[in-house]
Amino acid sequence: MIPFVDLKAQYDSIKEEIDEAIQSVLNNTSFIMGEELIKFEEEFASFCNTKYAIGVANGSDALILALRACGIREGDEVITVPHTFIATTEAISNAGGKVVFVDIDPKTYTIDVSKIEEKITEKTKAIIPIHLYGQPADMLPIMRLAKKYNLKVIEDAAQAHGAEYKGKKVGSIGDVGCFSFYPGKNLGAYGDAGIVVTNNEGIAEKVKLLRNHGRITKKYEHDIEGYSSRLDNLQAAILRVKLRHLNKWNKSRRRNDKKYNELLSNVDGVITPYEADYAKHVYHLYVIRTEERDKLREELKSKGIATGIHYPIPLHLQPAYKYLGYKKGNFPVTEKASQEILSLPMFAELNDEQIEEIVELIKIIKNNI
Ligand SMILES: Cc1ncc(COP(=O)(O)O)c(C=O)c1O
Repeated sequence: MIPFVDLKAQYDSIKEEIDEAIQSVLNNTSFIMGEELIKFEEEFASFCNTKYAIGVANGSDALILALRACGIREGDEVITVPHTFIATTEAISNAGGKVVFVDIDPKTYTIDVSKIEEKITEKTKAIIPIHLYGQPADMLPIMRLAKKYNLKVIEDAAQAHGAEYKGKKVGSIGDVGCFSFYPGKNLGAYGDAGIVVTNNEGIAEKVKLLRNHGRITKKYEHDIEGYSSRLDNLQAAILRVKLRHLNKWNKSRRRNDKKYNELLSNVDGVITPYEADYAKHVYHLYVIRTEERDKLREELKSKGIATGIHYPIPLHLQPAYKYLGYKKGNFPVTEKASQEILSLPMFAELNDEQIEEIVELIKIIKNNI
């Protein structure tokens, strides 16, 4: 049995530090907006090389609050891709915006920068590139377009803690960056949590207001209506411990990627992940591509190997987005990818023997298909 991610193995490796951090929050019973949160925000901002980091309740809220802090309002168009988790597009709608899709690049699975400009209209106000699977989107052309058309850029870095674009940490390149700390992420909490990072003081102040009921400084004074979306101190204390290990874990993920690539290089009909020249990929997911994907997945499952599909139904074909009027064939690169991609087990503690076992099984199954 090889799980898709192994949160228990990770916890066992840092148990003492984690237990101590949790106990210390329990001892001082400061659960909301306390010292641990302030420290974590400073440490995460420093990790991303941004001036500000504002902890929020989850990655989805990070996107909603970032969009609202960037001034997105009813009817504004926001460009993103149909090959992402629905949280990205939900956030656009929840902030009042209209989702506009652009297809992905077939090699990196991130937004195809050559197809953005044709979708920009007078109503376009922002672009959300997704650093999918841990690989940064091609940010430079995106930033050039944003400058030309006066658009905000909101990086969805939910899957890419520590990834770099031309030596810069993701989250620090656009106007604002959004991270999720959902437990299985490269940096995961023990529950829900998220954060917004930015170098823009105005955006940082607005997100701070929005996350805590529009409260200024006094308890029952509210500048605007906001949300109840704070990152609690227990999660912050856990994340502070885990942040200290993140570089080491990302290094292991990159090592595991190399091992998989090496072993899969002589397996016919399997395409291994592509790392762009500009990128330092952090392999939140290790995604291969093959034509007999469903059969391979089924057989691996029967042998105890857990896999995933990220994502099986493109967003433009989801019932939730029927109202946008897109049809099958509108985004062919996304549609083809959704039929062929398969995420293999990937986590820092995955070892060579496990990777060898997975690849051996893939070889045997492939030979029999
Ligand atoms: C690309 C992407 N964006 C946004 C989110 C939303 O994060 P959360 O689950 O913390 O709300 C996720 C997490 O699952 C994600 O993968």
